[in-house]
Amino acid sequence: MPMLKEALKGVLSEEEIRHLYTSFDVIGQIAIIKVPDELLEKRYEIGNAILRSIKHVRSVYMQVSPVKDAYRVREVECIAGVDDTLTIYKEHGCRFKVDVAKVYFSPRLSTERARIASLVRDGESIVNMFAGVCTFSIIIAKRNPTSTVYSIDINPDAVMLCSENSRLNKVEDRVHVILGDAKEVIAGMLMNKADRVLMPLPERAKEYMKYALMAVKVGQECFIHYFTHLRGSKDKVYDICREELDGIMQNYRYSVDGLDYRYTFNIASMRIVREVGPRVYQVVADIAVRKSLYK
Ligand SMILES: C[S@@+](CC[C@H](N)C(=O)[O-])C[C@H]1O[C@@H](n2cnc3c(N)ncnc32)[C@H](O)[C@@H]1O
Repeated sequence: MPMLKEALKGVLSEEEIRHLYTSFDVIGQIAIIKVPDELLEKRYEIGNAILRSIKHVRSVYMQVSPVKDAYRVREVECIAGVDDTLTIYKEHGCRFKVDVAKVYFSPRLSTERARIASLVRDGESIVNMFAGVCTFSIIIAKRNPTSTVYSIDINPDAVMLCSENSRLNKVEDRVHVILGDAKEVIAGMLMNKADRVLMPLPERAKEYMKYALMAVKVGQECFIHYFTHLRGSKDKVYDICREELDGIMQNYRYSVDGLDYRYTFNIASMRIVREVGPRVYQVVADIAVRKSLYK
């Protein structure tokens, strides 16, 4: 955005402008930026410069806390334009209502959403354990008209937007939206139902693997998309991921209603989704799993 650079000249130094570029997102008509402490005094000038240079942006927010708590929401403060946190975001031919103050949302997962949707085969039943506003679920359902997606989220605002977004994109008959903790929802109603499970919550991936395994069908190859955060050098990150998964999968063999299940698995592929901190990477592993009854 050369116009933004132009508008910020005189407000910020070259170095500060470079920093700003790596820490700002545009979601529909809203721009969200991180402002370092030493630039806080200039936040309104920065906000107005963004407003002037990006035509479709009508509100600029400063992120005032990291994403936090169970809902993974960040606190924001309006620094320019209209103070309205609800917007419409478009991605891969779908439209999503997003309230940036009430739900988690990141445009930086766009490539990953398209990639996973492209892997889905005809007639699949999918469990999205941490659905947010249903971006993955709806893009999958829209691209694959014979698929069904069970979309779980613990945040009531996310679930409400998920239902609205399913209707907005005309997939409400195949995207089933469920409010609750993925653990309880899977144990209660989605055992052995999924050809594919999505786990887009890296912070709790290890702890929830047990429930992803519960959700997959018995006696066929299924897939789990496991998102994790790993610390290390970029060239070692896939080895670290493999070690993490070997460790977790060894633990799982479980009994339900007197039946005992066991698993074989292999990592079909791994991909760095993005760098989330210095030497910290978000990695997704596509795990092929076969679950069988243990006799
Ligand atoms: C990183 S976001 C999901 C992002 C989303 N998939 C996307 O593409 O925008 C994680 C979501 O998991 C939800 N969540 C956190 N803990 C949960 C739990 N135990 N069960 C179900 N959902 C949970 C949060 O409310 C949040 O919406």
